[in-house]
Amino acid sequence: MPKLPRVLADLPVSPAIAEALRSHVELVPWHAADEPGAATIAAIYTYGHPTVDPTLLAKLPGVRVISNFGVGVDHIDVPAATARGIPVGNTPGILDGATADQAFTLLLAAGRRLIEGDRYAKGPDFVRYDPSYLLGREIHHATLGIIGLGRIGAQVARRARAFDMTVLYHNRQRRVDVEQSLGVQYLPREALLTKSDYVVLTVPLTAQTRHLIGRTELAAMKPTAILVNVARGPVVDTDALTEALQLRTIFGAALDVTDPEPLPRDHPLLKLDNVIIAPHLGSATVETRQRMAQVSIENLLAGLAGKALAFRVG
Ligand code: DGY
Repeated sequence: MPKLPRVLADLPVSPAIAEALRSHVELVPWHAADEPGAATIAAIYTYGHPTVDPTLLAKLPGVRVISNFGVGVDHIDVPAATARGIPVGNTPGILDGATADQAFTLLLAAGRRLIEGDRYAKGPDFVRYDPSYLLGREIHHATLGIIGLGRIGAQVARRARAFDMTVLYHNRQRRVDVEQSLGVQYLPREALLTKSDYVVLTVPLTAQTRHLIGRTELAAMKPTAILVNVARGPVVDTDALTEALQLRTIFGAALDVTDPEPLPRDHPLLKLDNVIIAPHLGSATVETRQRMAQVSIENLLAGLAGKALAFRVG
């Protein structure tokens, strides 16, 4: 039997992906890049977010394709791959709905203090209903500010209409084309931060968006406001956010992503009751993850066969 192409992968991948790839490729662990035989590795499959940089690529001269399980490719040096003629595949357009749902899940849970309530209801102290405990913030008719009106941001805006929210947005480029259909109003970032009751981050991580929300931006937010991050952890300055939450200069935060990810187990953010943290679950539904698996496998096999990728970055 001819040898299967060797694919450097961030193992373990899900059993379904391992099974789907079994007869096509041999998955080899990440450390194989530092072992004899690295030159025979034909592709890279990034399942979590391992770094793919020029140092790694230099060890793997035989790589013909990089396929990423997910849309965000901030962990991959795409220009370096392109310079070597290596196409990079991702899974755009598949996880927008699930990620927008997660943004709203976090927004609702933080606004209505659901996680605190759950802990209290299950704990020993809940012995009597009291109308004065765990008061949250109104969601309906509140003002939502979306930073990043791409595919996910647009879906967040649509969901907000069902809650009769006023929706503001800020984007690198103003999107006059969709303002009317989405019912959104453009504002400069600072004005959006000042006016919003909820600020949702849906930007990709780039050099320009790293620490987009820092001390100054947090200080501009209302003391009653809630920050929701479903983008990437480094879009927010973790130290500045920790300080704002400790001092309660904002009402709360709900984070699907953190910087670093995961946070060290003794990080001060983990001790605060005004922050909800999910372990990067934006696209984590059975249906979306199945589709992401399918597309990332198709991209991988197409690249290995020298064919065009269905979804190529850049
Ligand atoms: C994405 O697609 O970028 C998600 O964050 C999962 O990696």
